[in-house]
Amino acid sequence: MDKLKILTYPEPFLRQSAKDVENIDGDLQKLIDRMTFTMCESQGVGLASMQIGVDKNLIVFDRGLGDKEKREPDVLINPKIVASEGSLLSENEGCLSVPDFRADVKRYAAVAVEGVDREGKPVRIERDDFLAVILQHEIDHLRGTLFIDRISSLKRQLYKRRVKKQMRQHG
Ligand code: NI
Repeated sequence: MDKLKILTYPEPFLRQSAKDVENIDGDLQKLIDRMTFTMCESQGVGLASMQIGVDKNLIVFDRGLGDKEKREPDVLINPKIVASEGSLLSENEGCLSVPDFRADVKRYAAVAVEGVDREGKPVRIERDDFLAVILQHEIDHLRGTLFIDRISSLKRQLYKRRVKKQMRQHG
């Protein structure tokens, strides 16, 4: 299987919103498999369709929370945060679309997320651990939001300046 190309900031497509998946067919399941493969190969704990240039409301994530020995990839189609509680600082958050940058991000401490699985069956996930942060991060991608939008403007400006400099250097 080939790894899909992951779009990186400042690619404009990452700023668009995904559209709800209307029917789950073989093509969609192939896409899910390739996204799962790409996430695992990239050592990621989550991947949203927007990151690979597809505007479908769809995320894959690792219930094993990045433990290479205990990978447990899963998918949520049309995911939605239906309840949230508290807040925490997600330390050192990163993103495959924002390479070489990490920052602390304010997130809900607990979320309930609803969607459907790859067979179209309704799923509800309630978590108050690292997976709660992963789900919020990936669902953000489906609305065109990156974690750098949720950090201080000073830190964001530093990152943006660095990317601009790199782009100049690499023509
Ligand atoms: Ni991300």
